[in-house]
Amino acid sequence: MSIQRTAVIGSGLMGAGIAEVLAKSGLDVIVREINDEVSAAGRARIEKSLTRAVEKGKLDSEARDAALGRLRFTTDIGELADRQLVIEAASENEDIKKSIFAELDKVVTDPEAILASNTSSMPIIRFAQSTSRPERVLGVHFFNPAPVQPLVEVVSSVLTADSVRETATEFVAEVLGKNPIQAQDRPGFIVNALLIPFLCSAIRMVESGFATKEDIDAGMVGGCAHPMGPIKLADMVGLDTCLYAAESIYTETGDPASKPPVLLSRMVDAGLLGVKSGRGFYEY
Ligand code: CAA
Repeated sequence: MSIQRTAVIGSGLMGAGIAEVLAKSGLDVIVREINDEVSAAGRARIEKSLTRAVEKGKLDSEARDAALGRLRFTTDIGELADRQLVIEAASENEDIKKSIFAELDKVVTDPEAILASNTSSMPIIRFAQSTSRPERVLGVHFFNPAPVQPLVEVVSSVLTADSVRETATEFVAEVLGKNPIQAQDRPGFIVNALLIPFLCSAIRMVESGFATKEDIDAGMVGGCAHPMGPIKLADMVGLDTCLYAAESIYTETGDPASKPPVLLSRMVDAGLLGVKSGRGFYEY
């Protein structure tokens, strides 16, 4: 199966990054958003990142313009009828994601199409079960910033067909040029099962006054060669995404290390979501 016609649901932090990766890889991409205003913001996000790639010498301006030309925004999910691959990157709300998969199941006509979710930690099987083709549903989980981070987790549910996992893995490696790893449909998959308890622990350190956010970040950058410290990373991932991932892992595993810190919940309630809202633990 040669995948050419793709779609991304959502153009927030992750959706925009994924759409950019697909367009840069020469694929036809439709991005589905809920209204024209959010679509315009999504397109602007992609344009900004592509321009940054040109400034960094990763792309020439012709390639940027060609990538932008392969992207089309719509608010009508019906336009996704002929897609061969759809990657859902809506907000981390299980009901919203389930209803998107149910809609995709109705509109996508190709029985060979692959329906993927970029969820950080929610069970893939629940989205699969919202469709009549659970064997064609899997997780394809990118990392932020998607145009830069090389890793993609390919997450198989207990019902994902081997052929679908193989096609998705080959596509990620050969077409997108990313490094796929295989993960089971378990809370947090591989990376977030390790990362979320780490971020929650760092936030608990701030919450308890154990150390300042600056010292925690300096500690992990200078002491462990992380490119950025955990508090700054939580801001970059989005505090709402961190909270939903922690809730989802904690609900299923009961592991206290992933119990969302109260401070994290309060910050999300306050609309302090990190880089994307202009303020989280730090100001942007
Ligand atoms: N397009 C293409 N390449 C770009 C780019 C863009 N828009 N912006 C930057 N780059 C490239 C740069 O050219 C540079 O490449 P080289 O190393 O080959 O020179 C590289 O990316 C780094 O760029 P900068 O040196 O300019 O650094 P930066 O400050 O702009 O970006 C960072 C830094 C890449 C974000 C880095 O700090 C980093 O890796 N941070 C950690 C990110 C991380 O851990 N992400 C995972 C989050 S977890 C997640 O996403 C999963 C989840 O489910 C919660």
